[in-house]
Amino acid sequence: MTGNQIDQSKLRVFRKLPLPVEERICRDYNAMLNGDDVIFEPGELAAQAEGFDALLVTATERFDANVIAQLPESVKIMATYSVGYDHIDVAAATQRGIVVTNTPDVLTDATADIALLLLLGAARGAHWGEAMIRGNAWGRWAPTHPLGLEVTGKRLGILGMGRIGQAVARRARAFGMEIHYHNRSRLDPALECGAVFHPTVHTLLQVSDFFSINCASTAETRGLLNDETIAHLPDGAIVVNTARGDIVDDDALIAALENGKVAAAGLDVFSNEPNIDPRYRDLENTFLLPHLGSATIETRTAMGMRALDNLDAYFRGETPDDVVRT
Ligand code: DGY
Repeated sequence: MTGNQIDQSKLRVFRKLPLPVEERICRDYNAMLNGDDVIFEPGELAAQAEGFDALLVTATERFDANVIAQLPESVKIMATYSVGYDHIDVAAATQRGIVVTNTPDVLTDATADIALLLLLGAARGAHWGEAMIRGNAWGRWAPTHPLGLEVTGKRLGILGMGRIGQAVARRARAFGMEIHYHNRSRLDPALECGAVFHPTVHTLLQVSDFFSINCASTAETRGLLNDETIAHLPDGAIVVNTARGDIVDDDALIAALENGKVAAAGLDVFSNEPNIDPRYRDLENTFLLPHLGSATIETRTAMGMRALDNLDAYFRGETPDDVVRT
């Protein structure tokens, strides 16, 4: 990419990105990087955008309507380095004429892998097994302890059967699981591969020995897993979340983990990251990861390249592939 228009475009990059991505940014843009990887508070974002045409942001920057209203006139496009865009008020941005793009597709497999890691880790007690070895507390092999739960032959309920949900289903089938799902609309039967569609979340919950959250965080899904919905799960179900923390009501899930209604949870995402509800750490039946869904060298690089493809297209006068629409 050497077009003059792109060379001249001023790009503010809000987080430190993988080296090949930053090399491409420096080659193609008049850019300001964030070499020290400073995290900006919402109140600092507009000032940081001053004088820039484009912003390359991540899920750690919250661009609510108030921040969008304060952005300088110069800003024409925000490319988020994430598939999720719940941290951006897209309606407010669109109203101001600011284009928003995201990075779908490239993180599907890495995120689905983490969902299976959580599912297996929660079911088989990976964290306490490992802690036993690290703590030098491994006694003799015993027929009765410690025991996890089998995944083969169990029913996996997937909430949100988009790209990531479908990739989770493909993997879980290989483990002999029976797939059920709820989605805003039913998939084309050719894509279902035998998965059973549930028109309501409630009937999905009722058959979910394992319940995997793979939907976006929206006004409809925030707090969806709560006291009332958890009651529909089979006793001893296992919950997996690789989507967004705010889809889960923490008080409700923690109570269910404490009383055994939910046998275990595998969680990669949390409300108020990284300051998660500390009770999760104290529970023996949680398997916890720090938002690693897309965290492979290959995927994090591909996400950056995808964000740059979108910016390049915009500055060439084209419509980027991944424009987020309200
Ligand atoms: C995403 O892409 O949405 C990941 O959760 C990283 O923010």
